[in-house]
Amino acid sequence: MTIPYEPGLDHTLDLLKEGYTYIPNRRRRFHSDIFQTRLLGQKVVCIGGKEAAKVFYDNEKFRRKGAAPRRIQQSLFGKNGVQTMDGEKHTHRKALFMDLMTPEHIKELKEIIAKQWNIGLNDWVDRDQIRLFDEARKIMCRAACNWAGVPLWAKELDLRTADLSAMIDAFGAVGLRHWKGRVARNRTEGWIRKIIWQVRGGRLHPNEHTALYKMAWHRNLDGSLMSTQMAAVELINILRPIVAIARYVTFGALAMHRFPEQTAKLQKNDDSYNQYFVQEVRRYYPFGPFLGARVRNNFEWNGHAFTKGTLVLLDIYGTNHDQELWNNPYSFSPERFAEWDGNLFDFIPQGGGNYNFGHRCAGEWITVEVMKVSLHFLASHMSYKIPEQNLNFNLVRMPPIPKSRVVLTNVQEK
Ligand code: HEM
Repeated sequence: MTIPYEPGLDHTLDLLKEGYTYIPNRRRRFHSDIFQTRLLGQKVVCIGGKEAAKVFYDNEKFRRKGAAPRRIQQSLFGKNGVQTMDGEKHTHRKALFMDLMTPEHIKELKEIIAKQWNIGLNDWVDRDQIRLFDEARKIMCRAACNWAGVPLWAKELDLRTADLSAMIDAFGAVGLRHWKGRVARNRTEGWIRKIIWQVRGGRLHPNEHTALYKMAWHRNLDGSLMSTQMAAVELINILRPIVAIARYVTFGALAMHRFPEQTAKLQKNDDSYNQYFVQEVRRYYPFGPFLGARVRNNFEWNGHAFTKGTLVLLDIYGTNHDQELWNNPYSFSPERFAEWDGNLFDFIPQGGGNYNFGHRCAGEWITVEVMKVSLHFLASHMSYKIPEQNLNFNLVRMPPIPKSRVVLTNVQEK
């Protein structure tokens, strides 16, 4: 069966113009969960929906090597990190991340986060206004370094927060925003390499359960010590995404503002409802637009031929807003998660499938827990006003954020 085809020489400009809606628009137009197009000068097959996610996460059918464009590795991921690995090597490297995600270690992070919100609040009560996104990023940066065992001097906070944020902000950018991300990556890798050297040289003794210790002493499958550069790249794969949670926290605050009925329920501090609220924030608001992988060997799916080497994009945003999977997908309704069966392939803001053997986000559990602590703090431990401002966000900018970054005034302890 022929794959529906978008005619034309190249559609990169359309992708830049339509952003998060580029793939969902065409899935609707073609009445199909699969279509073919051309992006950045190459043939690309786009797929979306639950069945598509199942096939995308089949390691026999897809590989990640050669899928991530260089510009993403130079800004967001770092070169040759866990995101680009396959097979045994990937499983071995992924275990380094998943070993950090024990219940006790996650609890420690939640306590650090709560403490950091309290420190922040003490400072905000004396100020006319704060920009929540900026403050949340600093909170996450301090917490990430503290949890990971990475020493952070107070005078460095602004620079390190700005750099870790710039790498995230660069992922869908061209021009200045992309270059800022590259500069930030180079500077951050230099900083973390030095810290790894200090650990290896015996000048710094991080606690053995921290990411710094584990990354500094990690051995590859062949028994060799991971290179300092690689250890830096992977440690940044812990620090940077914790800072990224600030974006979801900002969207969470926006949801609390836009949907006051749901927020009243959040204030009751019922753990199940908090969980539903956080899940709905991750489903409803945009972050990752799509993911890429290359066909490992020729295969057929639903009568369509996939040829070895083809780049395939899985529609994350569209799958999280798929009419077939979600009732009224564009309404904000945390209660929908009371019915959700925990399927690994329909709710994929941080990827799908198995954590240990696939590429699903290593930090999904901590994202949920950090968001729960943070939104509970906003709802129950502080009061504030949201003055008139531009809270809109644009589905073309990758990644999106409310224009005003959510300004709060009259911040008080509750
Ligand atoms: C704002 C919150 C976050 C979002 C939106 C997010 C999103 C994602 C996505 C879409 C992937 C790719 C999945 C795939 O390739 O199939 C991913 C992978 C990954 N994430 Fe996250 N993530 C977040 C937070 C975190 C946190 C807090 C950590 C760790 C502390 C983390 C660590 C990783 C790692 C190590 C990978 C690579 C996994 C692999 O390739 O096997 N992420 N994330």
